[in-house]
Amino acid sequence: MDRNLAPVSTVDELMTLLGDCAGKWDMPDRSGDPVDILDHDSQCAELLREQFPDDEELQVAGLVHDIGHVLVPGDDAGHGRHGSHAVRTLLGERVARLVELHVTAKRYLAATDSVHAAALSPSSQRTLVAQGGPMTPAEVAAFEADPDFHVAIALRKADDAGKVIGLTVHPLRTWRPVIERVAAAR
Ligand SMILES: [Fe+2]
Repeated sequence: MDRNLAPVSTVDELMTLLGDCAGKWDMPDRSGDPVDILDHDSQCAELLREQFPDDEELQVAGLVHDIGHVLVPGDDAGHGRHGSHAVRTLLGERVARLVELHVTAKRYLAATDSVHAAALSPSSQRTLVAQGGPMTPAEVAAFEADPDFHVAIALRKADDAGKVIGLTVHPLRTWRPVIERVAAAR
């Protein structure tokens, strides 16, 4: 197995990996999000903390949702899967699933919400095709029946909103106790 695809096994290791997201970009040629992955993931997690203060698994899923871009640079279509695989052992099945579902939810919104679809950033519109394109009606129905459907959509909307250049976020270290609680409870 590629060393970068080995599961993250400790909170220390995850903190190091998240720290490594500073100055890294979802698209290696910087044609994607206008903030680096650490800023983007932090903004996403903070939006989720405001909306779902009691769901720390969701917040942490937001914080780690794009680490797949750092684990396997340039594999946009696979980044949800890579990130999910990396955190499953440490953070548990639900967090891992939510990480993978942030790509699935994009395909859902592309099929069901024309306003959202039209507002996707140009790079998000480009990568949608490689990610499978808009869901089919059968896929839409199956996703709506998922117990985590609503939070997966919330994560996706925070993902789309968490790209504000220059926004001040809490330092990464402030997330450590939250990550520790999620890891301890899995
Ligand atoms: Fe993202």
